[in-house]
Amino acid sequence: MFVKEEPYYPPIIDKRTKIEGDYSNVVLHNACSIYYGALLVAYDKIEIGCNTAIAYGVTIITSANPDPHNLLFKKYGRTHSPVIIGNNCWICANVTILQGVSIGECCVVGAGAVVTKDIPPYSLAVGVPAKVVKKFQDLEEMMKWHSNKEK
Ligand SMILES: CC(C)(COP(=O)(O)OP(=O)(O)OC[C@H]1O[C@@H](n2cnc3c(N)ncnc32)[C@H](O)[C@@H]1OP(=O)(O)O)[C@@H](O)C(=O)NCCC(=O)NCCS
Repeated sequence: MFVKEEPYYPPIIDKRTKIEGDYSNVVLHNACSIYYGALLVAYDKIEIGCNTAIAYGVTIITSANPDPHNLLFKKYGRTHSPVIIGNNCWICANVTILQGVSIGECCVVGAGAVVTKDIPPYSLAVGVPAKVVKKFQDLEEMMKWHSNKEK
């Protein structure tokens, strides 16, 4: 589902993106992009904010669906919950985002991370499980830090 903000810049979705589950659960805002090899398991809502980039090989999971005959089914059962990603995020290559996670605006999630918990806005999170290694108050502080780093 495309959310048509004004002015409308359509999302860019690589045609090799795989969506499993219900397409109508996928909510895409203006100018977000999804690159080659992404897998969206959409048994619950997956919302991707404006200008957010989902890089190569990212997996977004909204559900757990073990076989009911599996002895672990009693513990894990069937569950689903949404994944919400804010505006202007960069989800780097091969990140996995688990069900129920919200990522605030202007976050970077480093390549290969597994995101198991919410990430606050203006953060850099890396690793398995993903940990916030940098947190800024706002975009201005974030940009200032980066330009000082480059000097
Ligand atoms: C996250 C990334 C963009 C770097 O962002 P940054 O804000 O410049 O972060 P830094 O390089 O300053 O790294 C900060 C810390 O996180 C660590 N880190 C960075 N990326 C990491 C990653 N993917 N996994 C684990 N640790 C990582 C750094 O080693 C550094 O640790 P230190 O402070 O102990 O030295 C980059 O490392 C990355 O993951 N790039 C992949 C880009 C990609 O997926 N491109 C595909 C096409 S869009």
